[in-house]
Amino acid sequence: MRRPFIAGNWKMNMDRAGAVALVEGLKEAAKDVDYADIAVCPPFVYLDAVAQVLKGTNIGVGAQDCYFEEKGAFTGEISVAMLKDVGCQYVILGHSERRHIIGESNELTNKKLLAVLKAGLTPILCIGEMLEQREADQTFDINAEQFLGSLAGVSAEDMKKVVIAYEPVWAIGTGKTATPEMAEEVHAGIRRLIEFRFNKEVADAVRIQYGGSMKPGNAKDLLAQADIDGGLIGGAALKVDDFMGIIEAAK
Ligand code: PGA
Repeated sequence: MRRPFIAGNWKMNMDRAGAVALVEGLKEAAKDVDYADIAVCPPFVYLDAVAQVLKGTNIGVGAQDCYFEEKGAFTGEISVAMLKDVGCQYVILGHSERRHIIGESNELTNKKLLAVLKAGLTPILCIGEMLEQREADQTFDINAEQFLGSLAGVSAEDMKKVVIAYEPVWAIGTGKTATPEMAEEVHAGIRRLIEFRFNKEVADAVRIQYGGSMKPGNAKDLLAQADIDGGLIGGAALKVDDFMGIIEAAK
């Protein structure tokens, strides 16, 4: 049985006081949750404050990105060692906003992923098709290309530590959710791809989160699907009640 994993991606939202208040509330609300892994991924500048509040709790901390070099002249970038130093266990990589707004490639995502694995942190690798790609029947090809490209050079042993987040770009922040059946079809396809690229044992172990307008109202049906093992939550992760509603749907 794969343990459900619910992670909140705050994106470029919150201020320091709001970030601390949110995790203070969440820490209390989620203290009895023993059926799922939980994490929050605040902006870099609030990681330290958030990790201090969550120290010793059942809620992990993740970053939304990182750089692949260990140190040096890379103005503006943050290394994996720095993330580890402030208490991060997870790093989101290849989020669609980084791929499509910032212009990050599979090659760059792959370098970051290898650096995260090397440092012993858990990558949450995002993949997902855009609306025109879905309409052109390219959903599987796009997801496979992002998956294979971003995971180049990863061993089967390391792959077991990777979390995949399937996030159809047309469903992110739009209020449009993939139906549980639509999401499950892609999730099952990704699991077959993991088996093809690695092996069945790895495919059975890897957790595949769904992301894209997941809310308390639709989480239960999505999480009930055989290959949906959790969620990567944007908008609904910014309020304790909404995020808890999704966590409870994983029970
Ligand atoms: P959303 O974002 O829940 O606001 O659609 C999900 C994500 O981008 O990770």
